[in-house]
Amino acid sequence: MTYTSILTEIRGRIGIVTLNRPQAMNAFNTAMLTELFDALDVYDNDERVGAIIVTGNEKAFAAGADIKEMAEATPFDMIGQGRVEKWDRIRTIKKVVIAAVSGWALGGGCEFAISCDMIVASETAKFGQPEITIGVIPGAGGTQRLARLLGKNLAMEMVINNRTLTAPEALQFGLVNRVVPVDGYLTAAVAFAEEIDARAPLAVRMAKDSVNAAFETTLAEGLKAEKRNFYTLFSTEDQKEGMKAFIEKRKPNWKGR
Ligand code: CAA
Repeated sequence: MTYTSILTEIRGRIGIVTLNRPQAMNAFNTAMLTELFDALDVYDNDERVGAIIVTGNEKAFAAGADIKEMAEATPFDMIGQGRVEKWDRIRTIKKVVIAAVSGWALGGGCEFAISCDMIVASETAKFGQPEITIGVIPGAGGTQRLARLLGKNLAMEMVINNRTLTAPEALQFGLVNRVVPVDGYLTAAVAFAEEIDARAPLAVRMAKDSVNAAFETTLAEGLKAEKRNFYTLFSTEDQKEGMKAFIEKRKPNWKGR
């Protein structure tokens, strides 16, 4: 696929997807969403890529769904186009996806960032769900994910009263993993992704799957998923290598098998 609204780059073993509609604050139109998920699929299936970063520019990660594209839509247009369902595809990516966020992460931009596995934010990052100001509510998971990540009261305030979180607030409330200076936020995200890529790959995958189960199932089902993944890892060479290396007081040499 030829991309017109995103840029892609493999840096070392890290696949970087950059949202690139600066003239529209990286608002997600249909073309950009299609390209974004195509690029994520490509990197997910590319053996040269160990982890993935999605980023925007310094001013905007993404200002949400493209309002101009959906302003005149009917419910049946929205259902037919499966607009918000497209966001769900982030859940199918097997590799770790880190959002590197600077500037605005609003509406679908915030929802996309919090759908990623982790977030590195620049000091200027701002997270919000302003849909209420245009007569709707978040439709790409914002009400559910923010309630789980932040608790009910703050989620209510963001969704009902357009409360925006600054980067330090987002860190304080556990919405992001780290806050770094704006001129180094992508470099910091790449270093973070490289740290993860250096770990035992199958264990990373199982770890991601297990943590995600906490958001999608009951505690009992989640514990079952965790146990299944834990036991399964004892069939890997990396488990044998990891434990042997610990006992022999050396660094493990991961094979991804
Ligand atoms: N959709 C379409 N165009 C957008 C956009 C969006 N979500 N956000 C910004 N733009 C466009 C603006 O219309 C403007 O275009 P023109 O130059 O052609 O007028 C351009 O980007 C620059 O934007 P501003 O002039 O507004 O820039 P600013 O610095 O003054 O403000 C901003 C930046 C605070 C991000 C502001 O643009 C804004 O509030 N954007 C809308 C945010 C929003 O409401 N998002 C929710 C969308 S709905 C949604 O996401 C639903 C869902 O759950 C999936």
